[in-house]
Amino acid sequence: MYILGIETSCDETGVAIYHSTKGLVHHNLYSQIEMHNEYGGVVPELASRDHIRKLVPLIKQTLLESKLVNTNIAGIAYTAGPGLMGALLVGATTAKSLAWTWQIPAIAVHHMEGHLLAPMLEDNPPAFPFIALLVSGGHTLLIQVDGVGQYTQLGESLDDAAGEAFDKTAKMLGLGYPGGPKVSKLAEKGSNRFKFPRPMTDRPGLDFSFSGLKTFTMNTFNKTEKTDQDKADVAYAFQQATAETLSIKCKRALQQTGLKTLVIAGGVSANTKIRAELLKMTKKQQATLFFPRLEFCTDNGAMIAYAGCQRLMAGQLENLEILCKPRWPIDSLVKI
Ligand code: KG4
Ligand code: ZN
Repeated sequence: MYILGIETSCDETGVAIYHSTKGLVHHNLYSQIEMHNEYGGVVPELASRDHIRKLVPLIKQTLLESKLVNTNIAGIAYTAGPGLMGALLVGATTAKSLAWTWQIPAIAVHHMEGHLLAPMLEDNPPAFPFIALLVSGGHTLLIQVDGVGQYTQLGESLDDAAGEAFDKTAKMLGLGYPGGPKVSKLAEKGSNRFKFPRPMTDRPGLDFSFSGLKTFTMNTFNKTEKTDQDKADVAYAFQQATAETLSIKCKRALQQTGLKTLVIAGGVSANTKIRAELLKMTKKQQATLFFPRLEFCTDNGAMIAYAGCQRLMAGQLENLEILCKPRWPIDSLVKI
């Protein structure tokens, strides 16, 4: 069966069609990055207004390019949270209205479950159980995954998310939004000059904290002349500290659970330094690392269509009520 997936939780309008046996058919993404860049970050009201403009034409385009019509679609999956309320409402109301008109089911998908399952879209997907490190603009989560919907949260960030720390560091260095790719590019020109802390690695546990690292980054940068080389060296040190901190916690999670598979997903998993650091660690632990292709690390409709398809195939249904959950703990999801 063909499932239409809709993602509108933040600053990307994503639409995809996934087939339960043939896999991903097609996907399209419209990014609002250019619009928000002017303001140095996502402006929620502008995000909602842009999703309203772009979503329906993108659905039409995706159906046309897939050579499918509405009668081919068996269900609609939409991101119901976590995310920006106004942005989520656009996807949810569109999905529910189309589903009612087309007389097919619609299913709410948890955005982070979408990220977590994104590596399943690849040719060589990971097998359950595994440890997942979810690193995005709003979340840093370590989860034991025993199956779809069987999530045990092992750790989380007590303050800023990893992506947020990248974005704030970029702002500090005058690099614009979104910060992750920009800090990463600048770090290539940096040298190993500063030693930054690896927060919360000197005590037991699997939680993270990135706000102290952000302050340390700012204080270090303010003590320099703020030349281009200073900026690159600060970006290098920040990225190295983040990569090593994530790696130390993932190693701990693997050792603690005895699992040998690590999945990394979410926008920050696009970072090549972090991938390299985790690859090095998993090799030493005789574990295997899985991650989505680059375009499915950041927000997209394909991961939502995939997650929704699994839930609809398992018979999960919902009523006509439009429910969005800007806050939605991942370990409260229904097991399938
Ligand atoms: O998953 P995502 O697209 O949206 C959320 O669910 O938040 O993640 C966006 C975050 C942003 O903070 C962005 O700066 C970060 O992912 N990001 C990166 C890279 N690409 C995106 N961070 C580090 N390195 C990257 N290459
Ligand atoms: Zn995301």
